[in-house]
Amino acid sequence: MKNLVILISGRGSNMESIVNAAIPGARIAAVISNRPDAAGLAFAHARGIATSILDHRNFGSREAFDGELARQIDHYGADLVVLAGFMRILTAEFVQRYAGRLINIHPSLLPAFPGLHTHRKALESGVKLHGATVHLVSADLDSGPIVIQAAVPVEEGDDEARLAARVLAAEHRIYPQAIRWIVEGRVDVIGNHVRVREARPGGPPLVQPPEEAGA
Ligand code: GRF
Repeated sequence: MKNLVILISGRGSNMESIVNAAIPGARIAAVISNRPDAAGLAFAHARGIATSILDHRNFGSREAFDGELARQIDHYGADLVVLAGFMRILTAEFVQRYAGRLINIHPSLLPAFPGLHTHRKALESGVKLHGATVHLVSADLDSGPIVIQAAVPVEEGDDEARLAARVLAAEHRIYPQAIRWIVEGRVDVIGNHVRVREARPGGPPLVQPPEEAGA
């Protein structure tokens, strides 16, 4: 069983989609929010998931906040740390500590439109396709090996809200899918590239990690 710790700051709809996906082999060990008023906390609590509030305003520095965050994540025995609308820039030290087991969802087809206001940027730029990306987190903002992307059309008459809703529906499909692949042990990272190995229903992965091979 893999322990997931999900970090949120607000609505938490991606967290909901992950919880509702009931991914075999995955257990949501905790949902942690840096904002006491994050709406998603109520959903997690109602589902009997441990919740924790870590208000960044109570910390004197980014390092101090990230240090306590790491302490809590480790307390919950996280195998995978899932950023789901977690609106904090993380220190390089934090990212390094969870390298390979820290994932994020970003509402654009990265590397297009990193940062905030991605839907506005997409509308302004005139792209015909927009979308969402799940990626492993590396030190730079909204970068790292891409696990899965979903594209949606930009339609005539779209405003930010309409486009955001279309992208969000795609997010809710791809985030649980990416986590399923990771939990199944099918994701290999080679440099900046992610390869997802084929599933063999009911059996072990086709290619086993070296330490398990022959065991
Ligand atoms: C999503 O669009 C996500 O891609 C972005 O922030 C938003 C969070 O929404 N990082 P929610 O809190 O999951 O509903």
